[in-house]
Amino acid sequence: MKLRKNVAVIGAQWGDEGKGKLVDLLCEEFDVVARYQGGHNAGHTVKFADQHFALRLIPSGIIHRDKLCLLGNGMVIDPEALLDEIERLRAAGIVIEENLKISDAAHVILPYHRALDLAREEAAGLARIGTTGRGIGPAYESKVARYGIRVADLLDPEVLKHKIEFACAEKNPVLQIVYGRETFDPAQLYDAYLKYGEVLAERITNGTVLINDQIRAGKRVMFEGAQGMMLDIDHGTYPFVTSSNTIVGGVCTGLGVAPKHIHEVIGVAKAYTTRVGGGAFPTELNDEQGEHLRSRGNEFGTVTGRPRRCGWLDLPVVRTAAMLNGIDTIALTKLDVLDEFEEIPVCVEYNVHGEKWKTFPAFAVAHDDYKPVYRTFKGWKQSTVGITSFDDLPQAAKDYIKFIEDETEAKASIISTGPRREETIVRD
Ligand code: IMP
Repeated sequence: MKLRKNVAVIGAQWGDEGKGKLVDLLCEEFDVVARYQGGHNAGHTVKFADQHFALRLIPSGIIHRDKLCLLGNGMVIDPEALLDEIERLRAAGIVIEENLKISDAAHVILPYHRALDLAREEAAGLARIGTTGRGIGPAYESKVARYGIRVADLLDPEVLKHKIEFACAEKNPVLQIVYGRETFDPAQLYDAYLKYGEVLAERITNGTVLINDQIRAGKRVMFEGAQGMMLDIDHGTYPFVTSSNTIVGGVCTGLGVAPKHIHEVIGVAKAYTTRVGGGAFPTELNDEQGEHLRSRGNEFGTVTGRPRRCGWLDLPVVRTAAMLNGIDTIALTKLDVLDEFEEIPVCVEYNVHGEKWKTFPAFAVAHDDYKPVYRTFKGWKQSTVGITSFDDLPQAAKDYIKFIEDETEAKASIISTGPRREETIVRD
């Protein structure tokens, strides 16, 4: 499969589509792998040679020795989580030296962000978002409020001290009075975060200049998305979303890369649908079929271990992803999870109060107001696990894939038939 020069890999559903495997599979051809949004709420799983790598902050390209990996300015970074991930990867034999860089303009997650995230979720009761509890939302809030701490600030003792004191003066009363939680000692935070700065100093760089220099030098870049299009802060199922732009537009802002440098978009979609956390999920299955998808697909969160909600493939979702991201190619993952079903329904549109919707409505609609309209496919009832050639797939599986291609107007050039790198069909 011939890919154009710089390629973005984007989640076309609610996250957990298998982007990690894709990036790992394709990044052989690339020189740089860069993340542009999110933080350690992401969980990318890569399985290779009997080793299992769970990546949260670091781009999946790190498994390959000669790839330059960049954490972009659009990310929110918890230094403790980053150092822990570096240690875990090193213990598994992965080399992390000059190949990992951090943008000085990325924002830092501090413990009060985590505490606020957890306190709010608890206080929200049934209306909770179901966040990963990593402080992602509150860290982006600090950024947008313009008093966030940036990675560069970790290297400037005076600025760091002032910013931590300023933030604690506001966050502590909110934590204590509004939520009845413990507060944070600014002096202790300052000591800890100054040390993180010292340890990370050699990796901190002007990420925008770095990536644009690489592009100018003719290097090939892969832009690695985290979460999925439906969790985008502007275009997703707000308020049940994450706090960043997960769609391809986020590449431009989250790395400082001009649109003309993004040459191809791969949308990663599971052959069915999953979601973690609250919010609308029109094709959700709360029965033994959903349980079958969960157990056969091992649908449990990489970060939190939470069971994922499971349902049939939702084409309005994938169509919306194709529209928002300009998807050129679909990577269809976990096809083998559908192997045992007698029949496989696919949602082709919604009926929302009598109106037909082929894409996901941007306005908030209560979960019960979406009536999925299904077309049912015959199951193939045979194993597709590990198949590497499209021709070897059962006819019913080919029909299923063809329908998805027709409905989304994008070719499924990559089809994943198992968690391993080699369990993949790559078509021309
Ligand atoms: P947050 O990003 O931790 O604020 O969580 C907001 C919503 O995004 C919750 O529904 C999470 O379950 C969801 N979410 C965040 N990261 C991921 C991910 O990597 N995969 C799937 N869902 C995610």
